[in-house]
Amino acid sequence: MNMSVMPSLDIKALREQFPVLSREVDGKPLVYLDNAATTQKPQCVIDSLVDYYSTCNSNVHRGAHKLADEATQRYEGARDIVAGFINAAAREEVIWTSGTTESINMVANGLAQMLKAGDEVVVTEMEHHANLVPWQQACKRSGATLKIAPIFDDGSLDLEAFKSLLNSNTRLVAFPHVSNSLGTVNPVAELTALAKQAGALVLVDGAQGVAHGNVDVQALGCDFYAFSGHKIFGPTGIGVLWGRQELLAEWPVWITGGEMIATVTYQDAIWNQLPYRLEAGTPHIAGAIGLGEAVRWFSQLDMVAVAAHEQALLQKATELAASIEGLKLIGTAKHKVGVLSFVMAGGHPADIGFLLDRQGIAIRTGHHCAEPLMNRLGVPGTARASFSIYNTLEEVDVLFEGLRKVQMMLA
Ligand code: ALA
Repeated sequence: MNMSVMPSLDIKALREQFPVLSREVDGKPLVYLDNAATTQKPQCVIDSLVDYYSTCNSNVHRGAHKLADEATQRYEGARDIVAGFINAAAREEVIWTSGTTESINMVANGLAQMLKAGDEVVVTEMEHHANLVPWQQACKRSGATLKIAPIFDDGSLDLEAFKSLLNSNTRLVAFPHVSNSLGTVNPVAELTALAKQAGALVLVDGAQGVAHGNVDVQALGCDFYAFSGHKIFGPTGIGVLWGRQELLAEWPVWITGGEMIATVTYQDAIWNQLPYRLEAGTPHIAGAIGLGEAVRWFSQLDMVAVAAHEQALLQKATELAASIEGLKLIGTAKHKVGVLSFVMAGGHPADIGFLLDRQGIAIRTGHHCAEPLMNRLGVPGTARASFSIYNTLEEVDVLFEGLRKVQMMLA
């Protein structure tokens, strides 16, 4: 496998690898700025799915035949690629799930069985529902208390307030690596260290963080890191729960059935070893293979160039936003990825999204699965443009030309 690093980003060549980017929408070139919702897929990822189904479609770990062997090798090979990418201490720490939501639910469901009244779980005001509702439910079921760490109005976390919520009752702290709706990048290692001082477990919602490169779970110091394949150029329906081996080996099993057992009698069952004990049933084999290919492809890029390009897009968009009268950015933290959330006087976010779509520009509008955060910020929702490595500075211009037209249409 070629894991050599490309020296810099050739955006034109990179775009050519994504077939969907050359399509038109209602006669206009597609300007895809909804990457926080899902990223597009390079041809090699699409090919890896087609190739699996065309040449070795088979179930994994079970078959006594060539196709099953090949499928198992590709599937487990993908686990190795992902483990290397996030610097897991062992491949057994990579659990395939359907995505970030399932990963977090797996941890929350297990935690609910260990929590008791008086225990506390801490999350932040900037959570996606996927990193809020599972903890609400775990606390409700166990009688534990959910505490919410506040943010400042710019969308950054209030570190002093966060610290003040931590104490010897804190069992787990969960927060996003990157806010999906604001783009805020949290100081993961610092937050983790504070939570660890209080003796708490730490789960990082990495859904929006993983595609920005250089996630090293050991360096971050957390206990769990959850992410989805489709936000890092891989397929939908596949994701990862990374956890420390000693924790996962004892974590309450989530879904029971085939594959996750070592032996079964009519009365009882003994669980399999990691990673299989947390992976019941036939997995999303093609998805895992596709995610492995996506990670292999992404790993070849120069991560410094990736970050620089994203920041250039964000900077230009932020500057142009200031030139639009009545446009207010929502989320202006110092450390941000390429997410531009905004409201505009005289236009509901849904209307802005609709009128941009008519011009071939795809963004997301609404509460972005962060309804409590929108309430906290006093907005019904936002219009959100989110950038990825294949977006160009010219597309940022197109977005703002489009917004000026939207303003005229709504005037
Ligand atoms: N969580 C995804 C988003 O932020 C769907 O759009």
